[in-house]
Amino acid sequence: MLSRLIYFSEERDVGVHGVLRILDEARAGNEAEGITGVLAFDRRWFLQCLEGPRDALTRKFLTIARDQRHSGVTLIAFEEAGARLFPDWTMGAMSVDTLDRDAFHPPSMTAATALRTLRSLQATGATM
Ligand SMILES: Cc1cc2nc3c(=O)[nH]c(=O)nc-3n(C[C@H](O)[C@H](O)[C@H](O)COP(=O)(O)O)c2cc1C
Repeated sequence: MLSRLIYFSEERDVGVHGVLRILDEARAGNEAEGITGVLAFDRRWFLQCLEGPRDALTRKFLTIARDQRHSGVTLIAFEEAGARLFPDWTMGAMSVDTLDRDAFHPPSMTAATALRTLRSLQATGATM
């Protein structure tokens, strides 16, 4: 069953190089599981959407949630997905610092606003 998971968290002193390392791990780890998605970040927050089979998604989220490179991991949504919204990346990344930073406050987001934010970031073509 194709599903979608969205969560946010607070970075723990990760830095740009740390984010690049996370992306390498994410892409390698997602490929084998049929998981795709996007990760948006600024200097404080991660906002990630993962799409794939729900059993693989559940396992992946439990792994990610234990990762010491972030804290306050908070689920925004876990839902059935008719189709993938982000099919093109094993993990696409979008730096919010180059875009509208003040608007990026994941704790205030509903599932709908989180998805809208990720999709509009994607539409700017800033995906790494
Ligand atoms: C913000 C964040 C997002 C991550 N996203 C993914 C991801 O999408 N896929 C993935 O396999 N690992 C992701 N990771 C890395 C995992 O937490 C973990 O380190 C990695 O999967 C290796 O796990 P393992 O040592 O159990 O194989 C992410 C880590 C962080 C901090």
